Amino acid sequence: MCGIVGYVGEKEAQGFLLSGLKRLEYRGYDSAGIVTLANDGKATLIRAKGKINNLEEKMAQNRHKDNIGIGHTRWATHGEPSETNAHPHKAGSIYVVHNGIIENYKELKKNLSQHEFVSDTDSEVLAALIESFYKDGKYPLINAVVQALKLVQGTYGVAVVSEKAPEEIIVARSGSPLVIGIGHDETLIASDASALVGHTKRAVYLNDGEVARLTKNSIEIKTLNAEPISAKVEEIETNLAAIQKGGYDHFLLKEIMEQPKSLTETLRGRINSKNHTVHLGGPGLSETELRKINHLIIVGCGTAYHAGLLAGYYIEQFTPEITIETVIASEYRYRNAYIPKDSVALIVSQSGETADTLACLREIKKQGIKTIGIVNAIGSTIAREVDGGTYVHVGPEISVASTKAFTSQAVAMVMFGLTIAQAKGVKSATLRPYIDEIARMPEEIGNTLEVVRPEIEKIAKKYAEYDHAIYLGRDTAYPTAMEGALKLKEISYVDANAYAFGELKHGPLALVDDRFFEMTLLPKGVLYDKVISNLQEVLARGGHVIAVTNVEDFDMPVESIVKITTDIEIFAPILMNLASQLFAYYMTVAKGYNVDQPRNLAKSVTVE
Ligand code: AGP
Ligand code: GLU
Repeated sequence: MCGIVGYVGEKEAQGFLLSGLKRLEYRGYDSAGIVTLANDGKATLIRAKGKINNLEEKMAQNRHKDNIGIGHTRWATHGEPSETNAHPHKAGSIYVVHNGIIENYKELKKNLSQHEFVSDTDSEVLAALIESFYKDGKYPLINAVVQALKLVQGTYGVAVVSEKAPEEIIVARSGSPLVIGIGHDETLIASDASALVGHTKRAVYLNDGEVARLTKNSIEIKTLNAEPISAKVEEIETNLAAIQKGGYDHFLLKEIMEQPKSLTETLRGRINSKNHTVHLGGPGLSETELRKINHLIIVGCGTAYHAGLLAGYYIEQFTPEITIETVIASEYRYRNAYIPKDSVALIVSQSGETADTLACLREIKKQGIKTIGIVNAIGSTIAREVDGGTYVHVGPEISVASTKAFTSQAVAMVMFGLTIAQAKGVKSATLRPYIDEIARMPEEIGNTLEVVRPEIEKIAKKYAEYDHAIYLGRDTAYPTAMEGALKLKEISYVDANAYAFGELKHGPLALVDDRFFEMTLLPKGVLYDKVISNLQEVLARGGHVIAVTNVEDFDMPVESIVKITTDIEIFAPILMNLASQLFAYYMTVAKGYNVDQPRNLAKSVTVE
């Protein structure tokens, strides 16, 4: 969702601004723009609706060697996607790019009559407000920005430049990330560290409530109350290969296929295969604290929520006296829910910036509950605000649809559950099957992908004309079915919905007709016979069934079968989910849609 870049240094700014915005494309946007300043302050503002290629074409006709500038990819919240509503927004001699929402923009606008508004956005109000304090350079730019932000309600990541001060960029954040890259005689800005990769490995992550004045060789950070903050320089771990397609047609396929490696990174140093134990250092909980946990609340959105649901099913299997509640962050943040004091909250987020999840984190912390992050993005806001955490280390997940993060988040949470069970003295014989299967998962994921990929590509072509689908599964295959349905929905725009298989006859069965196909996840196990009965109900009504199963002698009269041939049993649903991921990918390719940047969606939803 939306992106900010900025440059001040010895080189020409346009190059970094354009390449940086391209790096941020994956986050989702609808328009883009840049502004650069010449040494005399003369501004060149270039904006375009639609894809960055449109902006690039305009820039090609407007090349400048300016050494300072800011850029933005917009994900519209106030005002339709258009060139006029694209950022940067101008007010007097200043230019602003803004991620987030100015919630009180209407009230603020009433007192800004001196500004002639040309856009419908809340961000232009912020620009005018800053200008009203800047008074065309009468006051230092950073002071004007601070004065304006003190009046703002809402969220922002913001970068500001002025024709009157073409040597400095002012940045500030509250609820929308900003990272400062430190180069040699150059300072860079981005809303996501991936834009800085290849330019610098040294970064300073701005925190909420902080504002900074940047020049090509200086960073001055302070709070809105003018308290100086010392810049904490961290290393950017990502490398260029991690943010390139690596020979695949799409990031999504690359990220699906690299799950053996990404899960290996998640497990690294956390599983002892010799004595069949797990150890997670990040949460920072002592054995005593782990033993005292009697309630787990797992918070996330979308795929992160599904990973939490799935992990919850497993944890209750081997840790009987724990109650587990998995909640959707956007709902939970407004509930008046009681959390028992002997709880721990797992805050699950790939990006670590999801607004609803971050809001829940802050609410839960207010209740004195320990919060543990299950996060991928290093240095992200959630990762820095939780009490402890476990990075899943899957590397940058560029495609909007989350795949490798889901697998690793679910496994990481199961491992957290196992550490609780170990501390509570649950018998090793109970835990060992889980731990041994987890240790083997990377290899089994590789085997499964190898086997099912060609089959799924064929099947997806067979069902490419469908616009409706039902995903079905029981027990641990139910949250897996939910995740599969979301994958298909969000990239192929097929109306796919998941139901607990046992719930089908309580209503959804009425849907079954030739408009739908049914993706059924059928793992062997104690519920298999029940699931087969449920399957019969669908077949009896002429359902177009795809069966994903690890039952060797499966012989039900379904239309298509995907066989999972590994001997992983407990975590078979995670392997079945690989089939759903590939199915969604190939369906989308067959339908000709944008696999990595589906319409209307953003990779990180930093607004409510
Ligand atoms: C999943 O494919 C979607 N991109 C979306 O549901 C995502 O999982 C959700 O927005 C949560 O994102 P997060 O993990 O970065 O918090
Ligand atoms: N609210 C601003 C707008 O609609 C910024 C949206 C974004 O974060 O891209 O322009």
